[in-house]
Amino acid sequence: MAVAVCPGSFDPPTNGHVDIVERAARLFDHVIVAVLHNPDKAPLLSVDERVKLLGAALSHLPGVEVDSFEGLLVDLAKERGANVIVKGLRSTSDMGYELQMAHINAALAPGTDTVFIAAAPAWSFVSSSMVKQVASYGGDVAPFVPPVVAEALSRHFTARPPAGGGKV
Ligand code: PNS
Repeated sequence: MAVAVCPGSFDPPTNGHVDIVERAARLFDHVIVAVLHNPDKAPLLSVDERVKLLGAALSHLPGVEVDSFEGLLVDLAKERGANVIVKGLRSTSDMGYELQMAHINAALAPGTDTVFIAAAPAWSFVSSSMVKQVASYGGDVAPFVPPVVAEALSRHFTARPPAGGGKV
């Protein structure tokens, strides 16, 4: 059985992420979408929230599960019997960093291959950080993220007091 892990921060998940996982699900028997818990970073959405949102956005894919991890990706891959890492590539500017990670992971765990899937042109300009920025200023992120994510972002930003405490 071909098992692949599709790791990321997913803060928040975007339509680009969903597209990559859908296509990975056509290539592999089982795909584990792995949300990184990075204690050094303050994310917008908690790991639990990201796992739930991905679960909802990917519920139409029977061979896909969503998990979270902390530490090295290759340790998760070994634990879960995955010898392929799937990453999406949006542009040549993604490549330097992605190749570096692929080589490090292959050196840490020989036999682990990274497979890159070219992002669909429609999503090649969409990033989690841009989506966060647009949502934080009240912009409409519906074209870029699954509906559940748009709802979560809207809840998140309307629950927050405006920057500067709302003073004029
Ligand atoms: O969505 P991102 O932020 O580009 O994903 C990055 C991710 C989660 C794939 C990467 O940071 C990662 O694998 N982190 C776990 C730590 C690790 O294994 N580091 C060694 C490879 S660089």
